[in-house]
Amino acid sequence: MIVDLAHAVAASPTAGATGTLLSGSSPAAGRDLHLHLFLQRCREAFQAASARPAAADDVAARIFAALATAGDASGAPAPARVPACAHLPAALATASAGPGAIPALADALQALSPRLAWYRRAGSQLLPGPFHDGHASAIVKGPGGLEQRDDVKVGLSLMAPQVRYPDHQHPPEEIYVVLTPGQWRQRDGRWHEPGAGGIVHNPPGIVHAMRSGKSPLLAVWFLWLGP
Ligand SMILES: [Fe+2]
Repeated sequence: MIVDLAHAVAASPTAGATGTLLSGSSPAAGRDLHLHLFLQRCREAFQAASARPAAADDVAARIFAALATAGDASGAPAPARVPACAHLPAALATASAGPGAIPALADALQALSPRLAWYRRAGSQLLPGPFHDGHASAIVKGPGGLEQRDDVKVGLSLMAPQVRYPDHQHPPEEIYVVLTPGQWRQRDGRWHEPGAGGIVHNPPGIVHAMRSGKSPLLAVWFLWLGP
């Protein structure tokens, strides 16, 4: 479903409020409505997650406060696709039937998707198994994204069924807003299923991974790059 922007903004639970981008109904200066709606739906999905890790609130507050200011939209890459993008319609359809704020986030993501430059992780062709052709990532904000900025990186992870994203780690603290079924793991701990609408929090530097089951996995991730 293509989002009617004017209707979607008017129908927002926070429409009519004033103040920053993500607590109000108007885009930050220089930000288009598709990006505005996507961020607003992400924030609503985060707030609607009743079982989110307590530690996620602190970094999320920093992330969404920073995102109230638009970055530079002049360097957006050309849209691009990789093989796993074939699973995006199914993932969005699953998300559209999800709970709470997830269907609205799926609509906002669908409206944004034609502009995304999907890519594969560097070196993935060297890994055995279905990972190379079975995963896709896209940057919404940050280097290589639709909006250039150096304080927050926002992106998407999409995986075909039965694909495991390898263990990895990075200094920035991370949160995921999960749109579909799929499992996450930290260090060598047990795999757990946040479920659609669930939140994953990765402290700085922790080894983590994710994997899909019988259906595609789709999630939005946020990396805090600031102090
Ligand atoms: Fe990560």
